[in-house]
Amino acid sequence: MSKYRLDNSPIYIDGSDVPKNKLGITDSKLIHEIENNLLLEAYEVFSQDISVNTDFNEDYFKSLHKKTFESLYNFAGLYRDMNMSKGDSQFCLARYLESESKRIFIELEKEKFLQLHTDRVVFAKRVAYYQGELIALHPFYEINGRILRLFFDLICLANGYRPIDYSNFIDNGQYIEASIECVQFADTKKMEKIIIEGLSR
Ligand SMILES: Nc1ncnc2c1ncn2[C@@H]1O[C@H](COP(=O)(O)OP(=O)(O)O)[C@@H](O)[C@H]1O
Ligand SMILES: [Mg+2]
Repeated sequence: MSKYRLDNSPIYIDGSDVPKNKLGITDSKLIHEIENNLLLEAYEVFSQDISVNTDFNEDYFKSLHKKTFESLYNFAGLYRDMNMSKGDSQFCLARYLESESKRIFIELEKEKFLQLHTDRVVFAKRVAYYQGELIALHPFYEINGRILRLFFDLICLANGYRPIDYSNFIDNGQYIEASIECVQFADTKKMEKIIIEGLSR
């Protein structure tokens, strides 16, 4: 079982944290192993494909989710059509999802997908801001966290940085705490601290 309350979502096999999947897998450990392998593969494939000219727009973001998980899940690449929450955090209401998503990605495009920012700390703070926005959006039924971190890692690579190192913040719950502050209070200070520490050339 996941550490956090299960999503209020119909995508799971009844009474489990295993999403209904194309392989008919019911074992939680196995499905997470397969997800992680697909994600590792995606890191390889997508990081070979980026350059300073890559448009990290909404279609690109959706395609990351779709291409990574379409062999496993029917909901790959599709935005949810129901409201979702985790703990006390209510994510973007489904009826505002499309317009909110557009707002965020248009803003990111106007900011030239962060290419404008040559200072490392400024760049990190903008990643934290957009990361908070996408965490609050929570557009997919599942695997939002991993796909949005992949998305920002690719933006980092395109700008000459390494993928962000979150390892000091995941197991001790600090990443979730920072997420909660983003979603419930639109406060990105903790997320900024994490990204500044995890970002290097
Ligand atoms: N209680 C919470 N409040 C706000 N955000 C949360 C909470 N719990 C988890 N999150 C955010 O949701 C993400 C997990 O969403 P999920 O769709 O399950 O993705 P994944 O399966 O890749 O972890 C976390 O990475 C975190 O950013
Ligand atoms: Mg999950």
